[in-house]
Amino acid sequence: MSIMHSLVLLSGVLALSQIVASALAPATKQCVQLEVPVPVIATNRHYSMPRVDSNIDAIDWTVNVTTWSEPSAEDRSIRLLPINSTFKISAQLCVPLQSGPKANVLQIATPGLGFDKRYWDVEINPAEYSYVDAAVGKGYSILTYDRLGTGKSDKPNAYDVVQIPAEVEIIAGLTKLARSGKLLSSSKVVSRSVAASDSATPLSSFRPSKVVQVGHSFGAFLVALNLAKYGSLADGAILSGLLTTNLTTMIDVLHYDHEFAREHDPVRFGDYPSGYFVLNTQSCLQKLFLRNGAFEPEMLPYVEKIKAPEAVGEYASEGTNPFQPALDFKGPLQFFNGEFDNFICRGDCRGIYNETAARVLFPGVPMADLVSYLQPNTGHALTVATNASAGYQVMLQFLDSRGL
Ligand SMILES: *[C@@H]1O[C@H](CO)[C@@H](O)[C@H](O)[C@H]1NC(C)=O
Ligand SMILES: *[C@@H]1O[C@H](CO)[C@@H](O)[C@H](O)[C@H]1NC(C)=O
Ligand SMILES: *[C@@H]1O[C@H](CO)[C@@H](O)[C@H](O)[C@H]1NC(C)=O
Ligand SMILES: *[C@@H]1O[C@H](CO)[C@@H](O)[C@H](O)[C@H]1NC(C)=O
Ligand SMILES: *[C@@H]1O[C@H](CO)[C@@H](O)[C@H](O)[C@H]1NC(C)=O
Repeated sequence: MSIMHSLVLLSGVLALSQIVASALAPATKQCVQLEVPVPVIATNRHYSMPRVDSNIDAIDWTVNVTTWSEPSAEDRSIRLLPINSTFKISAQLCVPLQSGPKANVLQIATPGLGFDKRYWDVEINPAEYSYVDAAVGKGYSILTYDRLGTGKSDKPNAYDVVQIPAEVEIIAGLTKLARSGKLLSSSKVVSRSVAASDSATPLSSFRPSKVVQVGHSFGAFLVALNLAKYGSLADGAILSGLLTTNLTTMIDVLHYDHEFAREHDPVRFGDYPSGYFVLNTQSCLQKLFLRNGAFEPEMLPYVEKIKAPEAVGEYASEGTNPFQPALDFKGPLQFFNGEFDNFICRGDCRGIYNETAARVLFPGVPMADLVSYLQPNTGHALTVATNASAGYQVMLQFLDSRGL
């Protein structure tokens, strides 16, 4: 046998054994993909703003709403708009296969603008990048979901329906459903990863005793508003991609370019109606989400592949839905951010955390349970940054250290 032949053979055997090993690797989690009907009663607003039905409109919209002489967000609000609808929300519930004390602590994770639930469950090298795997690995259960208007969730009117008040109610609705033990029985089970019979934690009767609300960026903002309105629904929170800082100006929508989702990619986004736009280029995603030298090159095309459209109503409703103090929330709460977040800190979060402002928002959280952690050498999108898994251990250790 020639050396060449034996090398080929060897690599063939290696490759085969890797496949077998991954196929036979003992599963640590069982997951179900769900379609959850979430009833929403909320007070949205009708805003005056241009429509977005083309790529040209998307840029015109951006310039229009950031022009100084145009009406402010508050002044664009024409009237209140009551919402009373049930939305189909696509969610994934994962519980540990070996049930331990933390399996009854459910984390509910909300992604930010530009992402759907895959933000929390990165498919490239999940052992390093999947927050879902990290949480389940520490024994937690975790529910991730596509925000309204993203992924496999409903995509209703982008102007009047997909707004902050409705999205806050969806977090509350999912939390209440989970707490009642009726999440599975009231949902359509789309698929299961592991047969329920293999499991120690019976999924069908899953009923958490504690809930931790986790959010990223716009998702963290929704969690913060949810804590202000329904503080007693959550036992703890992690807000990432969000920080109270002493910066007076933030990067706004003029700093990054969108295209009309359906025109940008008719195959991927053909089912997105008027008013949904999407970040246009990889360069734009890089600028917003990633830190120079602190991501693996394959992550950029991956973020491009999984990017999610955004509804203009989400931006329009920001000005009329400011932070409110979360009087009933008792914590603990961790702000977890990339040290060099370009979006919330204009590139450098060091030394600008305003703890006083955080305490005004979360007065019920004991001093020692309200903390800010900066993940070294990381940008805005923490789950696709090099060293993500070490950051997850900091988040999970925080919860553990506070009895969650
Ligand atoms: C902004 O859009 C409104 C229509 O919604 C239009 O009347 C106004 O002229 C536009 N302004 C700019 C600066 O584009
Ligand atoms: C919402 O709609 C349901 C069914 O149409 C109705 O029974 C209920 O009274 C409505 N609730 C509110 C607050 O409007
Ligand atoms: C921090 O926040 C408080 C409360 O919002 C505010 O009064 C104070 O001016 C802020 N400090 C700085 C340095 O921006
Ligand atoms: C923010 O506030 C901190 C503490 O008051 C101060 O040291 C820092 O210089 C401020 N940074 C900016 C950018 O204003
Ligand atoms: C990786 O993250 C951990 C947790 O935040 C941190 O202690 C460590 O210094 C980081 N490593 C690098 C190389 O940045």
